[in-house]
Amino acid sequence: MKKRAVITGVHAWVPPYVLGNKELETMVDTNDEWITSRTGIKERRILKGENQGTSVIGTEAVKGLLEKTGTDPAEIDLIICATVTPDMLFPATANIVAHNVGAKNSYSFDISAACSGFLYALSIGSQFIETGAHKKVIVIGADKMSSIVNYQDRTTCIIFGDGGGAVLLEPTEEPLGVMDALLHTDGSGADFLHMRAGGSRKPATLETVTNREHYVFQEGSTVFKFAVTNMADVSAKIMQKNNLTADDVAWLVPHQANKRIIDATANRMGIGPEKVMLNIEKYGNTTAGTIPLCLWDYESQLNKGDNLILAAFGGGFTWGAVYLKWGYDPK
Ligand code: UT7
Repeated sequence: MKKRAVITGVHAWVPPYVLGNKELETMVDTNDEWITSRTGIKERRILKGENQGTSVIGTEAVKGLLEKTGTDPAEIDLIICATVTPDMLFPATANIVAHNVGAKNSYSFDISAACSGFLYALSIGSQFIETGAHKKVIVIGADKMSSIVNYQDRTTCIIFGDGGGAVLLEPTEEPLGVMDALLHTDGSGADFLHMRAGGSRKPATLETVTNREHYVFQEGSTVFKFAVTNMADVSAKIMQKNNLTADDVAWLVPHQANKRIIDATANRMGIGPEKVMLNIEKYGNTTAGTIPLCLWDYESQLNKGDNLILAAFGGGFTWGAVYLKWGYDPK
């Protein structure tokens, strides 16, 4: 019997500060009606305070996950953190989280795949379980987007927020867990969505700071077009490959970038809105955080054996879909 990696718990965390559309109206030339109709977002969470990085989000999510699943941190073999807003360029944010939660027997690393980061990390983590190398792997998706958002740019600051979540992966011989993954990259997309300075190509200088080059640059409408096509295509493709009809799918778990992209994906899959996880109105786009945040919000509605299609598109470009069978009934 093939060993599979099944999610045995999920937990998430968002900071308490709520940045609503009304407050954004006082910061840039925008309005609630435009933001709501173009994106579906009403509010997002912001991590405030000195020395508060993405590891705070990851640590809170993992602490809650360990408590909820009754897991001793010393039993964790591996922690993978998907993020584009690490606490520092190095060491990895996953290392800081591992230390904070007392996962002293674990090794850890970060994955940089922007909005598709959680799917990449989930697929990688699953394979360590499937090979038998590890018994308990934690996969985190978390971002503090407010640290790289230009609050003078109305085209990006209305979209992003801070938050994230984590799942525990364990082996099973039941027909549950991660069944398939289709992951893609197109590096030519870097021109349309990136952070210009602060990396090895253009290290930080006074000039890069003055020119506001340490913020997200996004050519929104181009990214939108690629996102709609690719997220819908890959979701339809993974259903086809696994002989799934719309009736077989219990939930679409889409990256929360823009409600219009989510609607297009669901339409292409032939899935009605009642089967689409949606919380973009509360948290905006938390990059690697959106999918675990959805699983956490909808956990009480998930049943053992439910077919879930997780789908994402983001910077890179990166995109993909994961087909999984949910591992447990509501507790
Ligand atoms: O998460 C990973 C990847 N990211 C995405 O998937 C995001 C993809 N892109 C999008 O979601 C959308 O492109 C945005 C939400 C960023 C923008 O929506 P859009 O419908 O593509 O708007 P647009 O950029 O085509 O701009 C339409 C108009 C422009 O005005 P004009 O030139 O028609 O007069 C913009 O200047 O809307 C204007 N505009 C705004 N107006 C009020 C742009 N941002 C705003 C704003 N408030 N915040």
